[in-house]
Amino acid sequence: MSIVFEKVSKAFGTKEVLRNVSFEVKKGEILFILGKSGMGKSVTLKHIVGVLKPDSGNVWVDQQNVTSLDSFQLTQIRRRCGMVFQHPALLDSLSVFDNVAFGLRTPQYQQTLPTPLTEKQIEEAVVSKLQLVHLGTDILKRFPQEISYGMQKRVSLARTLAPAPEYLLFDEPTTGLDPITTEAVNSLIKDLSHTLKVTSVVVSHDMACALKIADRVLVLDRGGILAHDSVAEIRRSKEPLIRDFLSETVSLEAQLGASQLINRGAS
Ligand SMILES: Nc1ncnc2c1ncn2[C@@H]1O[C@H](COP(=O)(O)OP(=O)(O)O)[C@@H](O)[C@H]1O
Ligand SMILES: [Mg+2]
Repeated sequence: MSIVFEKVSKAFGTKEVLRNVSFEVKKGEILFILGKSGMGKSVTLKHIVGVLKPDSGNVWVDQQNVTSLDSFQLTQIRRRCGMVFQHPALLDSLSVFDNVAFGLRTPQYQQTLPTPLTEKQIEEAVVSKLQLVHLGTDILKRFPQEISYGMQKRVSLARTLAPAPEYLLFDEPTTGLDPITTEAVNSLIKDLSHTLKVTSVVVSHDMACALKIADRVLVLDRGGILAHDSVAEIRRSKEPLIRDFLSETVSLEAQLGASQLINRGAS
């Protein structure tokens, strides 16, 4: 059970985004793919779920070659991979309950079960997933616009968790969040990955998050892999780009410390 990239190359027109990229995400680990904007992080995630196909090379998910699956097999792979996007992307016209239940009610999901879920089972699944993201049943009937942005992100995560994915793929989960919500999202990713025993790939340009949650960090730069190491190795790296990323974390940590102090003062 793992994700393997084998010599994957991808270009858009003359723009080479991935060049001969090979790596493996081991079962149960959190791999953090770090890179500046435009370095192919989202493109990499899209290859895992077969939204994009490589020009050459192969992508394997659980020993299945994603590049050569038919649409039914791809749907099954996508069911096993929960995608979490930067923005919550909840459906405004549906309550929190119906948003979290959404994936459970789709025919694509129901087809994968021996018997369709009853409404009671759906309700149990929704409540338990909300608990996992530290939300209570008091918000079930509320609509996305009636809860805070941080709560919307949690609801969106609960929705992704509802069909019990084996892989969690996060695209810029903390971009644009204030330091305290960032911290909360980081803890959630780490705790969920471990308690649910899922394999996670997190892509972001945020080194501070990488240092907090990653088991291993893969640095993408100009089409290739600049580093693929443990957090301890990354901290010791002499690569100028990695040193730049590391120096940014110092000021972010200072910001977080300051906002925690303000928060404590206010409470
Ligand atoms: N479907 C597409 N068509 C053309 N160019 C694309 C497409 N998807 C991504 N790109 C280009 O590939 C590069 C990498 O994109 P992306 O993976 O989204 O970057 P990021 O690392 O910021 O997530 C960018 O230059 C982007 O413009
Ligand atoms: Mg991106």
